[in-house]
Amino acid sequence: MSETVFDLVVIGAGVGGYEGAIRAAQLGMKVAIVEKNKTLGGTCLNVGCIPSKAMLESSEHFHQAKTKLSKHGVMVGEVKLDLAAMMKRKDGVVRQLTNGVEFLMKKNKIETFKGAGKITKAGDIKSVEVSGEAGKSTLQAKNVLIATGSEASGLPFLPFDGKRVVSSTEALEFTEVPKHLVVIGGGVIGLEMGSVWLRLGSKVTVIEFLDRLIPGNDKQMATELQKSLTKQGMEFKLNSKCTGATKKGDWLLVEAEDRATNAKFTLEADYILVATGRRPYTQGLGLEGVNIQADKAGRIAVDDRFQSNVPGIYAVGDVIAGPMLAHKAGEEGVALAEILAGQSGHVNYHTIPGVIYTWPEVASVGYSEEELREKGTAYKMGSFPFMANGRAKAMDETEGLVKILADAKTDRVLGVHIIGPRAGDLIAEAVSVMEFGGSSEDIARTCHAHPTLAEVVKEAALAVDKRTLNM
Ligand code: NAI
Repeated sequence: MSETVFDLVVIGAGVGGYEGAIRAAQLGMKVAIVEKNKTLGGTCLNVGCIPSKAMLESSEHFHQAKTKLSKHGVMVGEVKLDLAAMMKRKDGVVRQLTNGVEFLMKKNKIETFKGAGKITKAGDIKSVEVSGEAGKSTLQAKNVLIATGSEASGLPFLPFDGKRVVSSTEALEFTEVPKHLVVIGGGVIGLEMGSVWLRLGSKVTVIEFLDRLIPGNDKQMATELQKSLTKQGMEFKLNSKCTGATKKGDWLLVEAEDRATNAKFTLEADYILVATGRRPYTQGLGLEGVNIQADKAGRIAVDDRFQSNVPGIYAVGDVIAGPMLAHKAGEEGVALAEILAGQSGHVNYHTIPGVIYTWPEVASVGYSEEELREKGTAYKMGSFPFMANGRAKAMDETEGLVKILADAKTDRVLGVHIIGPRAGDLIAEAVSVMEFGGSSEDIARTCHAHPTLAEVVKEAALAVDKRTLNM
């Protein structure tokens, strides 16, 4: 056992873990981080946000070259796909970023231990056993942060085989374009990964349990996104339940049932992506041994200072309640480090944006219209289409709209929902305004550069008071 007693040992070097570790080191703490994967960065950098965005970007270029460039007068001849080159570029992006995290650990004098971390002792000084290629070692810590993220939950009757029935991890590694990719789950992963392979030439059918896509998002955004993806060729079986799959030669026969009529149907697929949600990853952490309690959903139960029921053992990110988003985990990691340093770190859960990187993108922050109606909050709504925006026209990307929901009495912005080009970047303005408790009038009176997509946000704010200028 090492003599060093760390102020903080972080288990898991994903965004929540490594950003928390950096903030703690900045605040003068002696910090160690434990990671069982070969590279740092967690799901987001290795097999999630970053590689999927690299593939979304590349596949969008391919799709643009095939279908849109000629409209701009750019003639490129036959457009061919080099999937291996596309994958190599994606792997390069991932490598740069995971190496970048390694560098950040060194820069901030955070000691990195490669291996699986297990909490073996609670009390004033806790023990974390690390089992890796180099054997076993034990770290001592005043505080422990669990930031071990989540894993694809899958379906019991359709187990992953890593080749034909896959999670998003393997869907980022296909060595051929599927002929027919059946996606189970019309949530974020299903639609993002479905878009990648659709653009690269696959037939894609999405089976979704509910009667709408992207549950939790504003319904209008879901309807608009479905319209757009349908135009692109994606097929949907909504209100349908997948019940299993059987092998049929080289193909799989996906079995499903329409929930309204109970009619059974089958789809032939060469690949099945199961994207029906993720569950917290707490395996092998030794939680039972030190009596750390989980909530009903199997997440580590924490108080508003991220502390579990065991003093000095904390958790952030996908292993605790809240949206499973890298930026939410990062905010929590930083807030915890500040709390440990005696500061008043906190996370405003009402202003965490969500982005779906389809094309058009969908981005939102705050309440949806359905949530406001359910809460009985009186609200005003203003919306403006990209169709009436000069920059969108110049780009030939006119699909979508911005919708702003503001309190009927105070005009305070309660929610903003965008579907359209670069929605993921445009939402940042709405997040800032909401963080400052701003009103739709604040956005409406802010000068926005012309011609930009951001003007659609301003016009939607003007629309709240029925005074749009350009429509
Ligand atoms: P999700 O919760 O977004 O969507 C799962 C979908 O599967 C839901 O629409 C659900 O109704 C449906 N479903 C569940 N069981 C089903 C069944 N038996 N048959 C048919 N449909 C079924 O989960 P997803 O897409 O797997 O993503 C997991 C997590 O990762 C989410 O929390 C998401 O926010 C996060 N994520 C975020 C990204 C982003 O911010 N851009 C990108 C990728 C993941």
